[in-house]
Amino acid sequence: MAHVTGPWLSPDEVSGLWSVDEIERAARERMSAPLRDYLDGWAGSGEGARINREGFSRWLFRPRILHDVREIDLGTTVLGQPVRTPILLGASALHRLSHPDGELATARAARAAGSLVMLSTSTSTPPEEVAAVGAPGWMQLYWMNDRGITRAIVERAEAAGFSALALTVDAPRLGWRPLEYRNGDWETHGVAQTVFPDPWPEGLAIEAGLTWRTLDWLRGITRLPIVLKGVMTPEDAAIAAAEGYPAIVVSNHGGRQLDHAMSSIEALPAVADAVAGRAEIYLDSGVRWGTDVLKALALGARAVFVGRPVHWGLAVGGEAGVARVISLLSDELRNAMGLCGITRPEDATRAIVAPRAG
Ligand SMILES: Cc1cc2nc3c(=O)[nH]c(=O)nc-3n(C[C@H](O)[C@H](O)[C@H](O)COP(=O)(O)O)c2cc1C
Repeated sequence: MAHVTGPWLSPDEVSGLWSVDEIERAARERMSAPLRDYLDGWAGSGEGARINREGFSRWLFRPRILHDVREIDLGTTVLGQPVRTPILLGASALHRLSHPDGELATARAARAAGSLVMLSTSTSTPPEEVAAVGAPGWMQLYWMNDRGITRAIVERAEAAGFSALALTVDAPRLGWRPLEYRNGDWETHGVAQTVFPDPWPEGLAIEAGLTWRTLDWLRGITRLPIVLKGVMTPEDAAIAAAEGYPAIVVSNHGGRQLDHAMSSIEALPAVADAVAGRAEIYLDSGVRWGTDVLKALALGARAVFVGRPVHWGLAVGGEAGVARVISLLSDELRNAMGLCGITRPEDATRAIVAPRAG
């Protein structure tokens, strides 16, 4: 059961929405109050979520002129996999809350746009069905305090054909989320998770005791590359690179974990310096405009993930809504690249941005 008052907009109607902000507004009008709370879902005061947006405003462009920008190609690769846009769909739980097609609609939109889906461990559609859509897919992993259950999730992701695991490392415990607490468990609202055992085993929770050394166990049981999601400091990024992890996501979990954490865009430059090309770097948290994407690319990210905008797209128009999120951000990015005088993502270097004075 979705928690949105339909009917959903037709693809034609969706194409009348001209920014992710407009999609958010249209989505909020249609969502139930508990769903709005859940998607907002920020930790504590919400300052961390606001800081994510402010962080992007602290960087400004230095546009260069008189470059031939007739042909702009957004294509790149992530872990060797070609994508036609660096705007990728991040792991967020329970897409069926926002549209009955849930993660299938998300994966279809990703496939059509040449993007990639990071499927949440808390998916409301079985991973096998999502993989069958045929979009490039990574499985996000919450490492649970039961290794048998964790191993089963990994084996299921491998068997379904996901090409990487994104291990979430910023959640040894869930953030303090007052907005979520008042609404109770989503399963009581009729949308179930499909990966965890049902009923939920007594005491099952995200493992709080992970260290760099316990991660070796995971590396020993899977042949999939492991992306660390939620790395925010150069210290940790340097360890990740030295340990041979192929990629990290600079993320403060959309402000849902540690209130008052740095924004990911502010954390990114030092992380990129520490990694020094040894691993791929992606960014999420607060990406709402193509200009945000370009700033992230300029400061060292190879691609970005969007979280809440996927749910907003679903709530507005299912697959067409998610497709609109990707196409708007991609078109905005193409426009901003042209106006900065560059034509390919790899041309986005620090030379095109400057910190705002003061
Ligand atoms: C409703 C919701 C559910 C989420 N569920 C997960 C999850 O299951 N696993 C995870 O690693 N991150 C999860 N996230 C965090 C996202 O992967 C991502 O870090 C964050 O949403 C990015 O910020 P943005 O929403 O501002 O784009 C979730 C985010 C939202 C909004």
